[in-house]
Order: sequence, then structure tokens, then C-alpha cells
Amino acid sequence: MDLRQAIQLRRSVRCFQDRPVDRAVLEDLIRGAVWAPSAMNTQPWMFHVVSGNSRDRLCGIMSQAFDRLRPRLEALFKKSMVGMIRGYFTHFGNAPHLVAVTAERLEIPEYQEGAIQSVAAAIQNFSLLAHEAGLGTCWMTGPLWVASEVEAFLGVPQRRLVAVLTVGWPDQEPPVPPRREGVVAWLE
Ligand SMILES: Cc1cc2nc3c(=O)[nH]c(=O)nc-3n(C[C@H](O)[C@H](O)[C@H](O)COP(=O)(O)O)c2cc1C
Repeated sequence: MDLRQAIQLRRSVRCFQDRPVDRAVLEDLIRGAVWAPSAMNTQPWMFHVVSGNSRDRLCGIMSQAFDRLRPRLEALFKKSMVGMIRGYFTHFGNAPHLVAVTAERLEIPEYQEGAIQSVAAAIQNFSLLAHEAGLGTCWMTGPLWVASEVEAFLGVPQRRLVAVLTVGWPDQEPPVPPRREGVVAWLE
């Protein structure tokens, strides 16, 4: 697949088929994702692939994020949209796998920022490679509202949760959100 095509046609998928992804396929995506650049070549990422019963338990923990987000969502969206988000934060599109991605936890804010940006680059690589393989993903920071609970569940309280991705075979063709104009400033 052409790179630009992959970038442009990747969508956030929120509805998945009831079919797991082979472990070898997931391993291959991660092997590709780690070719991201990283601050001072620290390669600070860790991918935690969560499936089966563990996936159900993690969904239960992440669904608590909705309660913490609810007042903000109610201020921003219509009731029907808040209801949809609540549903999504219960079943997570029935994704067979959740991939939590963590960074090293660092004391110095500038180092921490570098680590998080490095992990984000690896997440984007993972998402594009998944798309190329015909898989769907949804990159989610909503679970950060319960970050310490997720880190404890993963058994890595010393690391920092960056995002959780749903991963699976898509069962929808998501709409294409148009891109904003006016995002470049030229200084000469
Ligand atoms: C940093 C980041 C955080 C996101 N968090 C969530 C989330 O918590 N829940 C969710 O459903 N989608 C989440 N998304 C997906 C965005 O909603 C989505 O990328 C955006 O609506 C554009 O749609 P597209 O990815 O199909 O182009 C997140 C995306 C990014 C990059």
C-alpha cells in the first residue's frame, strides 16, 4: 500500500468482527511500529497486548473512565451522543484485543514529554501498519482518566500509560471526518 494512501485512508474503527487476530500478525505490527524515531534513541515504548478474559477485565476498568468524563461530555455533546459514548466505553466496539502502550515514567518534564511523543510516533506506525494489514484500530486516550488503575492492572505501576488501542477486523466503514484548513503558518 502506498504510504500516502495508508495515511489518508486509515480511520478510527469502533465496531469489530467477532474474530481474533493471530498472535503472529500482532507481533509483526509491533516489530514494525518500533522503527519510530525516539527522543535520544531511548525507545521508551512497551506494548501490552490484552486479549480473552484479561481484555474483559480491562474493559471493565476502562469503562469507569466514562463516569469521570461524563460532566465534560454532557457540557459538550447532545444527550444522544453522550449515550453513544457511554455504550462505546462499555463494549469498546467488541474489539478482540486491546493494546495498551506505555512509556517510561520520568521525573524531568521535558524528558517525559519526549518519551510520550516517541511512543505516539510508534502508535501511529502501529495504526498505519494495522490498516495496511486490513485491520482496524482506535487510538484512545479516554482511558487516561483511569490511568493508575490501568497501569496497576498491566502490572507496570512504574510506567506511564500513553494510550489504549482497540485492534481487530473492522465491521464498519467509518465516516471520513474532513480535515481543517488553515493549519500552516509560513514565516519567511
Ligand atoms: C491522541 C488521540 C486520542 C484519542 N482518544 C480517543 C478516545 O478516547 N476515544 C475515541 O473513541 N477516539 C479517540 N481518538 C480517535 C479520534 O476521535 C479520531 O482520530 C478523530 O475523530 C478523527 O477520525 P479518524 O481517526 O477516523 O481520522 C483519539 C485519537 C487520538 C490521536
